[in-house]
Amino acid sequence: MTENLELFSAPGHDGKAQAAIEIEALREQLNRWAHEYYVRDAPSVPDAEYDRAFLRLQALEAEHPELVTPDSPTQRVLGAVMEGLAPVRHAVPMLSIRTETDTEASGAEAFDARIRRELKLTPDDPPVEYVVEPKFDGLAMSLRYEQGKLVQAATRGDGEVGEDVTHNIRTIRQIPLALPADAPPVLEVRGEVYMARADFDALNERQRAQGGKTFVNPRNAAAGAVRQLDSGIAAQRPLSFFAYGLGEVQGAQFATHHAVLQQLKLWGFPVAAQAGIALGASELIAFHQRIGAARDALPYDIDGVVYKVNSLALQQQLGFVTREPRWAVAHKYPAQEMATRVEAIDVQVGRTGKLTPVARLAPVFVGGVTVTNATLHNLFEIRKKGVRVGDTAIVRRAGDVIPEVVGVVPGQRAGYVPNFRMPAQCPVCGSAVVREKGEANHRCTGGLFCPAQRKEAILHFAARRAMDIEGLGDKLVDQLVDQGVIRTLPDLYRMGLTALITLERMAEKSAQNVLAALEKSKRTTLPRFLFGLGIRHVGEATAKDLARHFGGLDAIMDATVEQLLQVNDVGPVVAEAIHTFFAQPHNREVVEQLRACGVAWEEGAPAERATLPLAGKTVVLTGTLPTLSRDAAKDLLEAAGAKVAGSVSKKTHYVVAGEEAGSKLAKAQELGVPVLDEAGMLTLLAGSTPAGQQP
Ligand code: IVH
Repeated sequence: MTENLELFSAPGHDGKAQAAIEIEALREQLNRWAHEYYVRDAPSVPDAEYDRAFLRLQALEAEHPELVTPDSPTQRVLGAVMEGLAPVRHAVPMLSIRTETDTEASGAEAFDARIRRELKLTPDDPPVEYVVEPKFDGLAMSLRYEQGKLVQAATRGDGEVGEDVTHNIRTIRQIPLALPADAPPVLEVRGEVYMARADFDALNERQRAQGGKTFVNPRNAAAGAVRQLDSGIAAQRPLSFFAYGLGEVQGAQFATHHAVLQQLKLWGFPVAAQAGIALGASELIAFHQRIGAARDALPYDIDGVVYKVNSLALQQQLGFVTREPRWAVAHKYPAQEMATRVEAIDVQVGRTGKLTPVARLAPVFVGGVTVTNATLHNLFEIRKKGVRVGDTAIVRRAGDVIPEVVGVVPGQRAGYVPNFRMPAQCPVCGSAVVREKGEANHRCTGGLFCPAQRKEAILHFAARRAMDIEGLGDKLVDQLVDQGVIRTLPDLYRMGLTALITLERMAEKSAQNVLAALEKSKRTTLPRFLFGLGIRHVGEATAKDLARHFGGLDAIMDATVEQLLQVNDVGPVVAEAIHTFFAQPHNREVVEQLRACGVAWEEGAPAERATLPLAGKTVVLTGTLPTLSRDAAKDLLEAAGAKVAGSVSKKTHYVVAGEEAGSKLAKAQELGVPVLDEAGMLTLLAGSTPAGQQP
């Protein structure tokens, strides 16, 4: 400090010298904090502290404008509006990569075989070392640093000449404006600018609220942001960056691509955590599978993985064919978004009577399967996305999620096509269709009368987590309802062997199995039965809460809305739904008939939640307990009024840990949450359970 002071202490410049020192310190600190926050995802200071330092720096810079430098953290948005984007000739061309779309094994094997052939390796030679990285679905960017300062950011363009987008790229917090002192004098960092899914969703939400245009996917949103002329607009479109290579470099040398990635990380650039070294084809395949399995959980879109020969000397030896290096290949995953034609818009009726518009599509291979239908969610989504019959729509299918139409390709509509309208009558049963105030969804009022709801109601009743009737799947329910064997739930328990074996493709043995499963299902629990009724808003947890609170079914059926509101986690909407359900005579009749058919459960005494031994307590289970299964332990705890949670926080009252307990146990110890073993848990349950309330 003192030394620095002297350095700047020219006579009469004390204030300025002081300011310069403080400014330097603030910048250094703000850059470090920004790196922790935006790149490493591990902030070490509260946001308020960052903001305070930032404001202080702004104030100092306002006082001493001559000390403002372009790499100051305050200068990310320069407010400049460009007239156009200037062309930039790349010092080292930006290449593209050859794509493999083959299946897992053959894509990787073909690449490895090619490399070995090019390098004239024999089967006796050791496996080639590769680096595998995700293939990010964004746009390529070249960042040029001179003397450690970001001087230019350029798009790929045609690979030779791109566009200068420095003003927008500066707004990306993950991209350092200045590099550490050990960075070489000239450094071009190549990587991908992208938009994280959550940022994309939030952006579209904001755009919608402001009546602005929404974006079809994160890639398009990112590309639009990067090419803005006004950096103020780009700054409002949250972009991110991953570094994956180098362009021109003066004053530094590397032996491997992996070393390049490590060094980029040290210089402050985000590098994908999944990147790693793979030996030979078998490990390439393993990487492809591992990253593929993690794909849907990643916060950003990837469309494949990239295999790169690790040794830079070997890369040089392998060279290029036209615009593509021989040493790298992109091995794709099935696309999650594809364009296809909307042939028609139909309406489906769900179990609860919800009407869902569904786009019938020209078959398209997306997300690994052929898709012919995609949900349009509701009328408002259709209007928002502007989908009409005949349009070319973008269909998305990621993981196990139902395929959906995310938007339409603009400017493809040939002539006038009328807007889609919701039918006034249920397409299945003809009952009136209504939309509740403030609700986005239209509903059929047909209830159990509507065959669509009947089928779904039966399937839901039979589900594993409800009555658990094995063998009663959708095909069988379709037949039973279509043939008129079953109209309401009690009919299930009334049908005989003859009715079943007359169905198509039903052998006597399977018919007997179904009857046995039905018989077995009669002995159930109140929560399962309640859940099985398919009352709107009553899921498993609410069913359990209701059973625990009231003890028996009659009390629930006769409860007023006020009484229902006393139940843990039951709010006005849920209470209203339950009350309305049991106010319908035909629903009460169904319940009575089911009971008459022999469906039974043990009823308990009504319990005020607060009097249960573990009421209001949150417990987390981890590891393997010596005698109790995870489910059994959960049941015991819940019966005692505890809430069983999945993760440990300050609000956790107890952690019950068994063998091989991992991070949850560590977290409990870190937070000082009491840890019990199975015996401890049982003591807690027994010891504090008042007589007569034993679960
Ligand atoms: S390396 C010489 N690595 O894919 C190889 N590219 O066709 C140069 N991309 O537009 C590219 N993720 O933007 C490389 N981990 C990754 C990548 C990646 C995405 C993009 C890149 C380029 C395209 C190549």
